[in-house]
Parts: sequence; structure tokens; C-alpha cells
Amino acid sequence: MQKLLPHHQHQRVLHFLTKKHIFIAIYLLLLLALLHLQFHQQKKSINSPHQVVRSVPKEEDDNTNTRRGAQCDYSNGRWIRSKAEPIYNGTSCGTIKKGQNCMANGRPDTGYLHWRWRPAACELHEFNPSLFLSLLENKHLAFIGDSLARNQVESLMCLVSTVSSPVLVYRDGDENKFRRWSFPSHNASVSVFWSPLLIKHLEKEPSLGKNHNKLYMDSVDERWASELDQMDIVVFSAGHWFLLPAIYHDAGGEVLGCHYCPEFNHTEIGFFDIYRKTLRTVLNEVRIRQERTITRRRRSDKLVVLTTFSPAHFEGEWNNAGACSKLEPFREGEKKMGYMDMEMRRIGVEELKDAAEKKKRKMGENGSVKYEALEVSDLAWMRPDGHPGAYMNPFPYAQGFKERMPNDCVHWCLPGPIDTWNEILLDMIKRWKSD
Ligand SMILES: *[C@@H]1O[C@H](CO)[C@@H](O)[C@H](O)[C@H]1NC(C)=O
Ligand SMILES: *[C@@H]1O[C@H](CO)[C@@H](O)[C@H](O)[C@H]1NC(C)=O
Ligand SMILES: *[C@@H]1O[C@H](CO)[C@@H](O)[C@H](O)[C@H]1NC(C)=O
Ligand SMILES: *[C@@H]1O[C@H](CO)[C@@H](O)[C@H](O)[C@H]1NC(C)=O
Repeated sequence: MQKLLPHHQHQRVLHFLTKKHIFIAIYLLLLLALLHLQFHQQKKSINSPHQVVRSVPKEEDDNTNTRRGAQCDYSNGRWIRSKAEPIYNGTSCGTIKKGQNCMANGRPDTGYLHWRWRPAACELHEFNPSLFLSLLENKHLAFIGDSLARNQVESLMCLVSTVSSPVLVYRDGDENKFRRWSFPSHNASVSVFWSPLLIKHLEKEPSLGKNHNKLYMDSVDERWASELDQMDIVVFSAGHWFLLPAIYHDAGGEVLGCHYCPEFNHTEIGFFDIYRKTLRTVLNEVRIRQERTITRRRRSDKLVVLTTFSPAHFEGEWNNAGACSKLEPFREGEKKMGYMDMEMRRIGVEELKDAAEKKKRKMGENGSVKYEALEVSDLAWMRPDGHPGAYMNPFPYAQGFKERMPNDCVHWCLPGPIDTWNEILLDMIKRWKSD
């Protein structure tokens, strides 16, 4: 169970929860929690759940990694310098959220654009937009989750739009929380669904003083689940919202416990187990609904991906100048990932593995749902230089240096390291299609 922060600290933090800064404040909570955890749990030893690496020959042909069963451990590798320019930039792509358009916001250094991830035991190819579109022909790829799901889908749209212009066919919710694009040339669709906790929930429930999210542990969020039938590839990406104050309910509405709720008489149960239960509920529900559709309509297979936890890199307070101002990746072994980041990653990987085994027991080898973990935690951890930092706002230093300045050390500049997530995703889709 997590130790708590002093109440006044949370209140001070929550005070900053203006609409504009809501995500940043969340990550301040994260940072405080992280520091606290590191302090209190230094002695715990963590088992890294790396999969067995199977060597794949290094060759440039398109069959690399596509052999049936051949799988690469992408989380094991290093960032190497690269002279190549990103295939898109802040002016060539119109799908970048302002706060992540670092080039347009005047970030002066460009070194962070010139690194490639090299897995230890296999090849990761540069993103090939034409190949991606051909793999997505007559298919629908949906991203479901929080602002990092959005960050990843926007990276993907920028990468793909270098060869084909997407048509925005649907948009809903403030800040474009629900969107769907179509690539008419390939009858391919990409969409994003806002669902930061994945299960049924109420954000900042007014009856709870607006500080607490209300989670229903046994039900999925129907905003995306009701459309599962129409999705061929589903990418879940959530995690940071589980750190926020919350009240947890079971199917009967009974309170199971809470996270950070001293003003209510509920038991503090932290968020690690809740995150785990959430993934279990979500992944089970996907399988159960797929079983139903198979008997009904003989739908084709589904690929279900979980993007693992993406660590933040705050150093000090989020609104201090230079809260994440590194210009280069960490060197190998320079800094160890924090306890909380490692736990969140571990839970994600374990639940995906568990879902895959459960599926095998229930559906046998009949296909239908394939589960894959997109293990980005380690490679993301090594990129403290890839965040917008102060360049979440246009030209933050135009009026001179300021002590106090909001920093985004959570999301990723576009272009930037998150483009790599999509290179790995492309590889996964390629392997899935050749299964
Ligand atoms: C951005 O990309 C466009 C189109 O490829 C190119 O013309 C432009 O020079 C690029 N700008 C920068 C700053 O790299
Ligand atoms: C177009 O793609 C959708 C999935 O997004 C699929 O259901 C539909 O059958 C496709 N249309 C054609 C003509 O293949
Ligand atoms: C809180 O819950 C405990 C156990 O259910 C109960 O004994 C206690 O009276 C409650 N306190 C308040 C202030 O409701
Ligand atoms: C797999 O499909 C075959 C043929 O349709 C069926 O007989 C078998 O029961 C299925 N296996 C499972 C575990 O559902």
C-alpha cells in the first residue's frame, strides 16, 4: 500500500487544477508520490519481467520479425545517435496538440530529434507509412486511454500523413477527446477514445467535493466498449490517472476503499491493485465480447495492445523553471527508474500475459484475440530530454527568465521519442497479420 502525502500538500497541488494545467498538476502529484515512495520503499526488490529474447536475424527485408512466433524484446536496448531527420515536423503536420508542438513553441535545441532506439536482439525499422497503411487496409485501429494515448495517436497521424492525408470524419468532446480519421485510399480508420481510467468512472465527482474520481471496478467504460465490435486493433494507454484521489466501488455500489481520502471514512487501499484489477476487467471484457461476436457474426481477429506506463521526469516542482531541461538521453545506468514506474510497468506486463493465457484456455488456438504489451517504459525512462518542459507554451522565455514556469515533463514533443512507440506498434501489427 502507498504511503500518503500530507493533506495540505495535496490541497496546494489541487489548487493548481485549472483546466489548462490539469494534467501537469496530476503529474506533480505523481512526482510527489514517487519521491515519497522511493524514500519509504528503497528496500523493496523488484523483479523485472523481461521476456525471453529470441534472436531475429538482422536483415533489411520486410520479413524481419514477421516469422510466426518470432518476437522481439523491444524493452531491452539502447538509444543511439542518428543523423536522419524525423519524417515530419511541427509545420508539416497539423495534428499536433499545441502543448506538444515543441518546434513551433520555439524549443531551440534539436538534439532530442536525433536518436533511434536499438533493441538488443532484433532490428527496429524506421516507420514506413505506406506499409502501415497497407497493413491497416479495411481495418480500424483505436487508441483508448488518457492524454498519452492521445499523444501517441497524434504521433501516428503525423507519421502516416507524410504519404496520405487523413480525413477527420468524427470529432466530439472538449479538446478533441473523441476523434476518428479515415484514409479513404485504403479504407483504413484510426480513432481515439478518451477514457483515462478505462473502466466506468466519474471524473472529479461533485458530490465528493470535486477532488475524487469515482471508479466502478466491475464495469468497463461503455464510451469505448460499445464500439469494440468495430475495432480490429485496440491500443490501451492509461496509468497516470490512477494516482489521483479516488473512491472505488464494486458492482453493487459498495465502497471497496479509496486512494487519498482522509475526509471520508474509507480504507486507503492505494492504486497498484486497482490498476491491476482495472486491466483485468478491461482485458476480460474484450475477450468475452469477442466470443459473443464470433458466434454471432464470425468477426475476424482482434489485436489488443497495452502501452505500458510512460514515466515522467520532473526534477523538483513542476512550475519551477527547468523542471525537465535535459538535452540528452540518460546514459546506460545513469539513473534507475523509480519504484512506482517499475510497479506500473510490471503490472501491465503481467496482466497482458495473464490475459493471453486465459484466452488460450477459453478459446484455444482459435485465434480471435491476441494480446500484446507494447513495452515502452524502459525506453521512455531513458528519454528525459523528450518532454516539452517549458515549451508546452509558445516562447516561454520571450519575456526573459522567470523562476516560476509551468513544465510538462510527462507528454512527449512531436516529433520525438513517442514516434518510436509507433514503430514498435507497426511491427506488432505486421506480426499479427502474418500469424
Ligand atoms: C518541415 O517539413 C517541411 C516539409 O517536409 C519542410 O519543408 C520544412 O523545411 C521542415 N521544417 C523544419 C523546421 O524542419
Ligand atoms: C472498410 O473498413 C471497415 C473497417 O473499418 C470494414 O468493416 C468494411 O468492410 C470495409 N469496407 C470494405 C468495402 O471493405
Ligand atoms: C468510521 O468507520 C468505522 C468502521 O466502520 C466506525 O467504527 C467509525 O465510527 C466511523 N467513523 C465515522 C466518523 O463515521
Ligand atoms: C475451436 O474451433 C473448433 C472448430 O470450429 C471447435 O470445434 C473448437 O471447440 C474450438 N475450440 C475452442 C477452445 O473454442
